[in-house]
Amino acid sequence: MKKGKRIAILTGGGDCPGINAVIRAVTKKAILEYDMEVIGILDGYDGAIKNRHRKLEYDDVSGILTLGGTILHTSKTANPYRYAVKKGGKIIFEDVSKAAINNLKKLDIDCLVCIGGDGTLYIANRLFEDGIPVVGVPKTIDNDIRGTDITFGFDSAVYIATEGIDRIHSTAQALHRVMIVEVMGHQAGWIALHSGIAGGGDIILIPEIPFDMEIIANKVKERNKKGKRFSIVVVAEGAKPKGGDVVIQRIVKQSSDPIRLGGVGFVLGAEIEKLSGIETRTVVMGHLQRGGSPTPFDRVLATRLGTRALDLILNKEFGYMVAVKGNSLGKVSLKEVAKGPRTIPADEPLIEVARSVGTCFGN
Ligand code: F6P
Repeated sequence: MKKGKRIAILTGGGDCPGINAVIRAVTKKAILEYDMEVIGILDGYDGAIKNRHRKLEYDDVSGILTLGGTILHTSKTANPYRYAVKKGGKIIFEDVSKAAINNLKKLDIDCLVCIGGDGTLYIANRLFEDGIPVVGVPKTIDNDIRGTDITFGFDSAVYIATEGIDRIHSTAQALHRVMIVEVMGHQAGWIALHSGIAGGGDIILIPEIPFDMEIIANKVKERNKKGKRFSIVVVAEGAKPKGGDVVIQRIVKQSSDPIRLGGVGFVLGAEIEKLSGIETRTVVMGHLQRGGSPTPFDRVLATRLGTRALDLILNKEFGYMVAVKGNSLGKVSLKEVAKGPRTIPADEPLIEVARSVGTCFGN
């Protein structure tokens, strides 16, 4: 029998800068202040399904604060309630949640800490409803988790995207071109909005505001007339034209959320060039936005969220996600989080701020 409390940590979905900082915070506080045992589940929910895990000692999490990725690894496809298996050359989905739940119960844990985005936290809520004590931590570069003002990973992605936009400026100016920078964000425009404002984008296109090609082309031409012979367009991968659809890069059949967006920047570039007559190039920031070391802001946020997750565990406040509310931390039920992603609301003040400095949203 175990002596004190034992907890497990799992990281699910896409990686992002700051995950290791959360693992470190949870584990250090658990060991240093409460003498708990900490187990790391490997490869996200895949490790729960296949019973793969390892003990996390203090030394395992020492020195990982600044590391990108996740020392526990992760999976974007393993969903215990809809697990992809190949049968007869075809992919079919099976409910293997009973096996995952049994494996987790056998670990005799007091709580499972799920660090993840909306997909991972949706599954975390189902596990909680099925009897596993769970606490969630909001992770994603997309910043699209319901119930929290911000997620860790977002600031790092915005920093990288902004650096990209800054670098594009000089070449756009030198060659009198339109340069398009496509950023990630899934169905939300948070990265595009923030990096677009930070990088001084002339046009920012987000999924929440469908764009009109004529308006974009006119903006570019009008800038040219005024002597600004270049333009910077920041486009979210999920942006779409009025009455049109998103550009899909690939379908990952074995994933519960199979659509991978990407490529709208190239479609847009061809159209802008055709309508404006100005040479246009596209750069896709892609996975660079998810890689590398977290910003100082994300390191601090991840440490705050990780240590607060421990408080929820000690108070037996299961079925909740730690959340940022203004300057302080709070909690929100996983049931609320599971309702779906948080996109940019129509009355988002930053949209007004950007418009007032002349930014065009393509509408
Ligand atoms: O959710 C994080 C994210 O990076 C999204 O911004 C993007 O749409 C998606 O993941 C990319 O997924 P993948 O890593 O499977 O290409």
